[in-house]
This record gives sequence, structure tokens and C-alpha cells, in this order.
Amino acid sequence: MAKKATTFLLLNLFLAALSTLTTAAVSPAVFVFGDSAVDVGNNNFLPSDAPKVNFPPWGIDYPGRTPTGRFTNGFNYADYVAKAVGLAMSPPPFLSLSNGNQMLRGVNFASGGAGILDTTGGDVIPMATQIEDFEQVAANLTERLGEKSAAVFLGKSLIHLIVGSNDIYPLYYLLSPGNSTQKDEAVVLLLDKFKHQIERLYDLGARKFAVLGVPPIGCVPMVRVAISSYGCNEDLNDLCLRFKTATKALLKDLSMSFKGFQYSFGDLYEMFTQIFSDPQQYGFTDIKAACCGGGRLNAESACLPNSTYCSNRSQYAFWDRSHPTQALHKTMAQLALYGPPLFANPVNIHQLVKS
Ligand SMILES: *[C@@H]1O[C@H](CO)[C@@H](O)[C@H](O)[C@H]1NC(C)=O
Ligand SMILES: *[C@@H]1O[C@H](CO)[C@@H](O)[C@H](O)[C@H]1NC(C)=O
Ligand SMILES: *[C@@H]1O[C@H](CO)[C@@H](O)[C@H](O)[C@H]1NC(C)=O
Ligand SMILES: *[C@@H]1O[C@H](CO)[C@@H](O)[C@H](O)[C@H]1NC(C)=O
Repeated sequence: MAKKATTFLLLNLFLAALSTLTTAAVSPAVFVFGDSAVDVGNNNFLPSDAPKVNFPPWGIDYPGRTPTGRFTNGFNYADYVAKAVGLAMSPPPFLSLSNGNQMLRGVNFASGGAGILDTTGGDVIPMATQIEDFEQVAANLTERLGEKSAAVFLGKSLIHLIVGSNDIYPLYYLLSPGNSTQKDEAVVLLLDKFKHQIERLYDLGARKFAVLGVPPIGCVPMVRVAISSYGCNEDLNDLCLRFKTATKALLKDLSMSFKGFQYSFGDLYEMFTQIFSDPQQYGFTDIKAACCGGGRLNAESACLPNSTYCSNRSQYAFWDRSHPTQALHKTMAQLALYGPPLFANPVNIHQLVKS
């Protein structure tokens, strides 16, 4: 009896979600995979050697000045996208789920430090495990909603992937500087693995993919500080450019090979390049230094409880030596959601959700 009542309640919740969908053209749910750009607290649940930021001043601009485990001073990209597609709240961290109802508007599987390769980032949740976690959620939804409704639900949901930077960064330092053959080999290695991961998600029912390509990580404060005049490491950026170009081509191939596969590629590389070349236009006055940290560019030490931090945080692109501020996250989200083809193609996320 109790089970029947619960099923009824869930069905109502599901229908309520669907009716919001038809009125506001929103996504019924958002499933988020990737790294610190979108982690909303999974790493808080991991053993002590995982990267964690659940202490002040992290989260200083989050409501209640709460250090939630987001790798920034406030909201992140995943939060802005969830809000824009009509969700009341950002999907909860997978490791925080205590009952099945919490997964009806989506789940966030992302883990700060994680990558495409299982070995990237150490004690974090690699993509392979994030996908296994999704498999568990998809099975659960199928059990609750029935196979047909669950397939419709997943097919309409937005599947968000933001990963690769944590693989590329250490990989780059294993290559001989300037050797493009080695760069291309590294790209093939990563992309082949990433391709299988996306295909696995498709097999599990995912259809609408929003993928953010890697940004030019040769321009983060931690990399700039090692370069005279605080310029970018252009050789590292070249590896990022090759990987993002290959990712974009992969998505196009997948959309032609797999029935119903739709995607929006958010070109972070292009976004960052434009922002760095004309910061004022995007509201930034400092794109080189970190807001929180220590030493030159505030990039020689991590952002710790005793670190100094800036007061005008919305004018900085970087919160700490490798992570964007809330202000940059918001700009990234707006360009991916509503931007022109230069930043989001072949459609932006808004168009993907409506289609
Ligand atoms: C799946 O559903 C059951 C009950 O229906 C629940 O106990 C379990 O925690 C759910 N699994 C996940 C991953 O949420
Ligand atoms: C680049 O790397 C490849 C493969 O490791 C090697 O065969 C080649 O000699 C290198 N090229 C240069 C210019 O160093
Ligand atoms: C932030 O404010 C400080 C103190 O007023 C100032 O020195 C600094 O240049 C400002 N930074 C930016 C990026 O505007
Ligand atoms: C801040 O704390 C860290 C670790 O607790 C310590 O190593 C460092 O010396 C401290 N820095 C300052 C400026 O007090």
C-alpha cells in the first residue's frame, strides 16, 4: 500500500515537472558530470586526501557565506545553467542523496580534480565512476517511472559534461615542449576514452548533451606566475586548442552516427580568449591575478583559511590560482546558454533544451 502511495506521489511530481516543461520550455532534469568547474559538494564526502574547499573564504559570496564545496567564491556554472533551464535548485551532489525523490530534477556527479582518465586527480571520482553512478540513478528512475516514461524523461534531460583540463595539465608536462606529434598522440588517447564515455551515456538513455570544451589553461594564474611578464603558456594552450577542436569534431560525428543524439558545444577556449583580449567589455579589470591566495599574482599559494583575498571579487576572472570566480562562471554560463555560434554551436543550450 505504502509503495502504491509513493508511486502515485512520484508520478504526480513527474507530471508537475513535465507541465512546467511545456509552459516554460525547460529541461525536466539536468545531469552534470565533470570536474571542479561544476562540483557542488561531492568531494566533501570523500576521504581526507581528496581536494576539498569546504572552509572559508571559499563560498564567501554564496548565500549565508557558506563554503559548500564549490570551487569558487559563490555559485558555479552548473548553478547558473540549472536556474536558466527552470530548475528551482541546482541538482544535488550524488553523494548527498538520501532518498530517490531528490533525483527527479537531476543529479550532479562532478568531482573537483577529476578527469577522463581514471588515474587523473588521485582520490577523486573519475568519469568512469560518475557514469556508473548515473547508471544507478537511471535504473532507479526506470524502476519508479516505468521503462517508457523513464526513457522519455532521460531523453529530454540535459546531460552536462565539463572535463579534460585535469587530464591535460599533467599530461602536458610529460611531453617535449613544442612537439606537435606528441600533442596529437595525447589528444587521441584522451579523446578515445571520452568518446566511449559519451557513448555509454547514450546507451543509458542520454540524448541532449551540453559539452564544454577545455579552456586555455595556459592562462590560469598558477601557470602565468611561472612566465616572465605573466603571459600565457602558449604551448600548453596549443594542446588545449587541439583537444577542444577534436572534441567539437567528435560531437559532430556522434550526432551523425547515433539516432537522436543532439548537442551544444560550449567553446570555453573561444570565450576565454575573447574575455582575456577585452576584459572590460565583460566587466573584468583583472584577468591575471587570483583574488585569493598568496605571493605574486596571489598564485604562489593556495586559497587557505588564512589567505588574503580581494574585496572587489566581481572584477576578477580568477578566484584562486586555478579556479574562476563566480563572476566568470556566470559569464561562461550566459554565453553557453544564449551565446552566438562562436561560443556555442551548432546551437546554444537554450536552443538545445527547446528543441
Ligand atoms: C533507488 O531507490 C531506492 C528506493 O526506491 C532507494 O532506497 C535508493 O537509495 C535509490 N538509489 C539511489 C542511488 O538513489
Ligand atoms: C616528437 O615526438 C615524437 C614521438 O615521441 C618523436 O618521434 C619525434 O622525434 C619528436 N620530434 C621532435 C622534433 O622532437
Ligand atoms: C580592487 O580593489 C583594490 C583596492 O581598492 C585595488 O587596489 C585593486 O586594483 C582592485 N582590483 C580590481 C581588479 O579592480
Ligand atoms: C597559513 O596556513 C598554512 C597552513 O595551515 C601555513 O602553512 C602558512 O604558513 C600560513 N600562512 C600565513 C601567511 O600565515
